[in-house]
Formats: sequence, structure tokens, C-alpha cells
Amino acid sequence: MSLESDRAVACPGKPDDFGASCQSQLAGSLKKPFYLGSLQLPSNVFCAPLAGCSDLPYRQMAERFGRPGLHYCEMVKIDALVRHDPNTYRLLDYTPAMHPIGAQICGSKPKMAAEAAQIVEDLGFDVLDLNCGCPVDKVTKDGSGSGLLKQPELIGEILSEVVARVKIPVTLKIRTGWDEASIVAPEITRLAESAGAKAITIHGRTREQGYHGPANWEWIRACKIAAKNILVIGNGDLFDPASALRMFASTQCDGFLIARGGMGQPWLAHDMISLLSGDAPPVRTVADVRSALLAHLDAILSYQNERQALLDFRRVGCWYLKRCENVRPLRMELNKAASTREALSLIRGFTWEKAAFSVGEGE
Ligand SMILES: Cc1cc2nc3c(=O)[nH]c(=O)nc-3n(C[C@H](O)[C@H](O)[C@H](O)COP(=O)(O)O)c2cc1C
Repeated sequence: MSLESDRAVACPGKPDDFGASCQSQLAGSLKKPFYLGSLQLPSNVFCAPLAGCSDLPYRQMAERFGRPGLHYCEMVKIDALVRHDPNTYRLLDYTPAMHPIGAQICGSKPKMAAEAAQIVEDLGFDVLDLNCGCPVDKVTKDGSGSGLLKQPELIGEILSEVVARVKIPVTLKIRTGWDEASIVAPEITRLAESAGAKAITIHGRTREQGYHGPANWEWIRACKIAAKNILVIGNGDLFDPASALRMFASTQCDGFLIARGGMGQPWLAHDMISLLSGDAPPVRTVADVRSALLAHLDAILSYQNERQALLDFRRVGCWYLKRCENVRPLRMELNKAASTREALSLIRGFTWEKAAFSVGEGE
């Protein structure tokens, strides 16, 4: 498909200078209020739903550095919500400081999705998102998650039921298609707009791709061209503040969804917003990594029991340390720590002066 459009991409120029021109253009556009339906958001930089990762402590960490435009909790299954499964409700824990906050539901039955959406609204959420991207077999086998990409009309049906049921804005998050031979993102963008969704997030990978290879931002551009009123949020490979400028330059997207880039960089939304507002973001150092890691572990300790906290320490510790050089001994010891107390003393006692932080995807 040709991605040539009648709307020129606004930030041409050499790779060296497009950053500055995009920056001033975006700084201007961010001076306007950003609305999702009637809901005003602080910015157009959102934090992604991340199953097993974007829990309450994760979101508290993003808050410490400054409010993102919107937090999404990790996905919850509609059948688990409607049968009031307490473990599922716990995934939706949030504090009043986290507004605006969105919940994401996963399922393929329109009536049950509407019931789940009602529960989400009653829990005080500001936004309801439909998951059309989860690639996991046990989710897709009943046609949920990215399984829905094989039935675009069903996505329209689910959205119509949900939009009719709740007052909060409804959004959806998709991959570009099941595989390269069946790209449906622009078609779903139009369907979602007709069904009343206010924004669509495009993860620029197919289901078949999983997380391999770079995200194809051309499809985000194609969705932006397909969209009339629905807002298009770009997602995929936003690992540092400047990547948002590059994404805007090639897609003209309305907003940005940070996913893996936020794991171990809780400041990323804040720094991206700074850059998009025309300010130079702070240069992050290994001292920032150390203090954020300790604060994150503290937040985990306040939320989880010792056994779960230790498991979370290893997982979260790995996110922070994978972006640092010369920390291999600490990584190994942290994985062997028998208690959270031992893990904390390892981190505090480590010679951080020898380590170095580099932004990016991490190893
Ligand atoms: C560990 C993990 C969990 C995820 N969980 C969800 C989820 O619950 N809902 C969802 O829509 N996407 C989920 N995703 C996908 C991300 O939100 C995002 O679309 C994807 O990682 C691409 O963005 P990135 O390249 O910037 O990481 C998950 C991704 C990862 C790595």
C-alpha cells in the first residue's frame, strides 16, 4: 500500500535538524488543551497497559516524576471482572493522585464487554480501553486480544455496545494486523471512529511479529490518514524522549504511548513531555537510576507481601540495571537474594560510581 497522502508530513528536513523543527511545532500544539471526548488530559504522552508490570507501584513511580497524560492499568479479562474475581480487581488498584487513569478490558463478547465496562466506570476510571493486540495464544484462541484483528466488524460491535453503556471515553489499542498479509489497522481506525471510540492506539507491529524487529510507524501514519475525528496514538519503540519527535515527524500522530521504554525509566513520560513542550529534558545519570530503583522497591514493599515483593524486586531490578554498564555482579547477586532486606543492602552497598547509564532499549 502506498502511504503517500494528501496531507504533507510537517517535519521534513535532515535527520540532524528535524528535531528542532518538530520540537517547536509540537511545543505550539501542546499549548492547546488535549481532549479525549470531554475529558481534558494533562498531555498527550500516555503510559501503556503492561500485563504483569504496570501495577500500582509502577504507576506511583511515573507519578513521582510528573503526571503523564494518562496511565493505563494492565489488561483485565472481561469474564474475570464480571464474576468479581478479587485478583483481577487488584490489578485495577489506583490512588486518587493517579487520575486521569484508564482500565483496559480484554474479551470478545459484546454484551459481557459492556457489563465489564460498566464495572470499570463504577470503579471510578476515567477511560475505558479495549485490548485488540494481546498476542498470547491463550487469549487469541477465543478470538480476544489480537484475535479480534481477524474480525474487524466484531471490534465495531463490541465498541458500539461499550460506548452505549458508559459515559467515560472509550479507546482501543490494536496491532497493525494478524500478519503482514492481513494489515487491517486503517480499516479498524474507521470502524472504531464510526462506533464512537475517541482514540485508537496503533502498536506498529503485527501479531505474528510479537515484539521482534522494529515497529512499522508507516501504519500509524496510514491510520492518521484514515482517521477523521478519532485521535491516533502512536506506539512502538518509544525508548527515549527524542523518539517521540521522530514518531511525530513520520506519522503526525496525536499522542504517544510509552511501553517498554518506561520499564526502568519512570521519568520517561516526564522527560518526553518536557521535550515536546520545548524544554530540554534533564540528562539522566546512574545516580537517578539508583535512587529511582530504591524508591520503586520501597513502593513495592508498601504494596506486596514479602514473598511477592522479592519476586518483584528481581523483575524490576532487572529493568533498571539492563540500561546500565558494569552492573553485572549486582544483577547476578540480586537474583540470588533470599530476602528483600538482603536485596536492598546489595543495592545500597554497590559501587555505583563505576556504573554508567545509557538511554535506549537496554540489552
Ligand atoms: C510485558 C508486557 C506486557 C504487556 N501488556 C499489555 C497489556 O496488558 N495490554 C496491551 O494492550 N498491551 C500490552 N503490551 C504491549 C505494550 O503496551 C506495547 O504495545 C508494546 O510493548 C509496544 O511498545 P514498545 O515497543 O514501546 O514496547 C505489553 C507489552 C509487554 C512487553
